Amino acid sequence: MSHLPNPHGGELVQAYNPSFEFSSIQKEIEIDSIALSDLELIGVGLFSPLKGFLGQKDYESVVTSMRLENGTIWSIPVTLPVSSSYAETLTKGEQIKLVQDGTVYGVIEVSEWFTPDLKKEAQEVYKTEDLAHPGVKRLFERGEVYVAGDVVLVKHPEKGVFDDVWLKPKETRALFEEKGWKTIVGFQTRNPIHRAHEYIQKAALETVDGLFVNPLVGETKSDDISADIRLKSYKVLLDNYYPKKRVQLGVYPAAMRYAGPREAIFHAIARKNFGCTHFIVGRDHAGVGDYYGTYDAQYIFSEFTEEELGIKPLFFEHSFYCLKCEGMASDKTCPHSKEDRVILSGTKVREMLRAGELPPAEFSRKEVVEVLIEGMKQEATI
Ligand code: ADX
Repeated sequence: MSHLPNPHGGELVQAYNPSFEFSSIQKEIEIDSIALSDLELIGVGLFSPLKGFLGQKDYESVVTSMRLENGTIWSIPVTLPVSSSYAETLTKGEQIKLVQDGTVYGVIEVSEWFTPDLKKEAQEVYKTEDLAHPGVKRLFERGEVYVAGDVVLVKHPEKGVFDDVWLKPKETRALFEEKGWKTIVGFQTRNPIHRAHEYIQKAALETVDGLFVNPLVGETKSDDISADIRLKSYKVLLDNYYPKKRVQLGVYPAAMRYAGPREAIFHAIARKNFGCTHFIVGRDHAGVGDYYGTYDAQYIFSEFTEEELGIKPLFFEHSFYCLKCEGMASDKTCPHSKEDRVILSGTKVREMLRAGELPPAEFSRKEVVEVLIEGMKQEATI
């Protein structure tokens, strides 16, 4: 008997079919990088139970109540936007190729199309209409009509350096079983793994069988550190400081929405589909700027029961290195003052790395920092 959680909605969607015949289909939709990654993740079942891009009723239900029309928890709309002029050419039931730069990645069978209320989507999902928010900016620039329908993934986007660490949910589930792990904690990150990340991962690992380090490598905002540089830093960290038997690295090729609390739920569901039983939610999960409160992404979990979510969130306080404690700590465990704590903002750290300066060893391990500085230097010369 498997100890892994059932996929969200009951079944792992498998919509990848490389031999799907599409040569007779003429029409195409040129898809952006968010739609391409959504297509792939629907195809491999990471977004189970979604079989395609959301129709109007599901979309409106997700926007207003974080559930699909049938009641299944779903917190972020997964949509396929097109221009209104393109929408005028659509017919119900037709098949259309989903294309990027001349390569066909999938086919959609159009069930309907509709004009979303983007302001409402921004307000409900992102809690702001401010175009300075990277997720909201993307939302408004993507297209004004949403096309809905089930999809077939006919080709995986090239993964380059991520090829050997892109494990599909079917593979992670088999791997976790093979390792005999009954409890697995998933860890989302869009950043290099600093000491605070390592601390909460290892604290979680003390109570479960395995840790699934699952960095997001899809589209991120331009000043986040690029995913291929991050990958090198993850590998060097895992090789030197993590027990091989208890830790698995695998990427999450989704686009980052920066939707804070709503995205934490979305992230948790995807990790459940990978086979994780637990999911780490720390400080300002999936947040950006000051749009969300430090622990809003934890509070949102209380809106659902653990049974219906099907994955247990593990919450962590803001952690840091304390010079007086001489170790990692949080407000929960450390009595000392601000001055004793080594705390740097993400922006400050990125500035230091770009200038070739080493953040303190208490903040980030030297091996990690060296890889990041070298990678960023090379990137700057390209
Ligand atoms: S995120 O956008 O992917 O959430 P990040 O990579 O910084 O950003 O965070 C990964 C995970 O670690 C999230 O669950 C986040 O809440 C948590 N986290 C990041 N930094 C800290 C910290 N100093 N203390 C506690 N949790 C943290």
